[in-house]
Amino acid sequence: MEKDHQLTPFFTKLVEYAESGTISHDVPGHKLGQIPNELLDYAGPTMFKLDANAPRGLDNLNRPTGVIKEAAELMADAFGAEKAYFLTGGTTMGILAMIMSVCRAKEKIILPRNVHKSAINALILSGAVPVFVKPYIDHELGIANHMEYDEVEKAILENPDAKAVFVINPTYFGVASDLKRIVELAHDKEMMVLVDEAHGSHLPFSDQLPMSSMEAGADMSSCSLHKTVGSLTQSSILIAQGPNVDHLRLRSTINMIQSTSPSSLLLASLDVARKHIYFEGPKQIPVLIEMAKKARDQINQIPGLKAADDHYFENNESFDYDETKILVKVSDLGISGFDVYKELFDEHHIQLELAETHLVLAVLSIGTRQSDLDHLVQALAKVSEKYRAYHLPPLEARIRVNFPEAYTRPREAYHAPKKIVPLNQAVDEIAAESIMIYPPGIPIVIPGEIISQDILDDLEFYQRSGSVILSDTEGGYVKIIDKEYWEKWSEIYEDE
Ligand SMILES: Cc1ncc(COP(=O)(O)O)c(C=O)c1O
Repeated sequence: MEKDHQLTPFFTKLVEYAESGTISHDVPGHKLGQIPNELLDYAGPTMFKLDANAPRGLDNLNRPTGVIKEAAELMADAFGAEKAYFLTGGTTMGILAMIMSVCRAKEKIILPRNVHKSAINALILSGAVPVFVKPYIDHELGIANHMEYDEVEKAILENPDAKAVFVINPTYFGVASDLKRIVELAHDKEMMVLVDEAHGSHLPFSDQLPMSSMEAGADMSSCSLHKTVGSLTQSSILIAQGPNVDHLRLRSTINMIQSTSPSSLLLASLDVARKHIYFEGPKQIPVLIEMAKKARDQINQIPGLKAADDHYFENNESFDYDETKILVKVSDLGISGFDVYKELFDEHHIQLELAETHLVLAVLSIGTRQSDLDHLVQALAKVSEKYRAYHLPPLEARIRVNFPEAYTRPREAYHAPKKIVPLNQAVDEIAAESIMIYPPGIPIVIPGEIISQDILDDLEFYQRSGSVILSDTEGGYVKIIDKEYWEKWSEIYEDE
């Protein structure tokens, strides 16, 4: 039966509850806004009235049978999936749930090395063995990007016992792999395909964008609607289709990591964002793509700057490109992406999504206005004018082509005896923690990998450039496996 996408079952019921005058003798303790505070003063009482915790009639996210189920059915329909699960812990949670529900300890999963940290954490929680595919290295932009089909094919053929292939669609930079062909090969070899679509929630809503996971035939995907579709931060979905998905196991895995008090604001925001993108996406995404093209052309007229377009990525082995991203190479001006990221914020009131050594990235959505793009182009022109006057030499390309060597499974390293040492004493030791730059949150080293001098040099470089480095230990130190105790410990503790 055709679905009525004008409906917003969860949001409508939530508003009904907020307006009903029901006396709250349940949690949350703010009693629908009866405890004064600055946030309430600023945001207004309505936000608190809508922050309810599963009262009668509003269903239960852990076992939906009412309005959450109805809203999730509409979501699944909009995304071309059989089933959708609402998540309040972001796609981070969706990735954990997908991998944990598919891989048992010591089972293999094929994935690109430049995955988001949540995929590495899923390896620790599940105990799965990663088979890393080296991503495409773009030397000009200094980034690790998508997976090439041939590399995935090689990994699949060399590891016929792998349970699943994990694909990012599209990458942070907007590049898509040939997902349909990957799915066909993986299914032919009885492997599942799990997709990180954190940056691809908008893909199903325009045929001018790369193919979405469900259209390509993937088994499961997690999409951050909060990133590109307009729901509130942290609200995501997990979508699934086909006979390979064990929904009982998936449901119990989701419930294991989902709060029992999910935010009704987040759930309602998913419901209304779905309605909006369903009707407006097909009309507004083509307009947005034209706006982005025009901005790219204007940026390419600015001396010292280069906005990468679909032709650039076609020439760089990509299968497809999401044109709603604006990626600008700035390092020919002799300054780094980190410098431009700071300068645009400090001097021009512009917050970009991401900086890397050579580039900055702006992520657009159907909420982006033409004036916002004009402002970006003008600010970039001013940056170019300012730095050209210094006649700085272009920055050297700096990208490591080899990823660290793995010594043991991430989960084994996570559980092994550890010690904390200064970074300069960690060469050739086995890492017991992930260290990453955020954004993008892709680990430079993960538990179980050998720390090389190259890694330490990279870390020092990122520290100097003012990037946010995330790790368990304080700056200047790292957690490594204590090899001496590890041997003794392994005799008594056998990890799953
Ligand atoms: C590639 C990729 N995957 C997954 C995630 C996690 O998504 P979320 O922020 O919705 O938890 C991110 C977040 O930045 C990401 O960049």
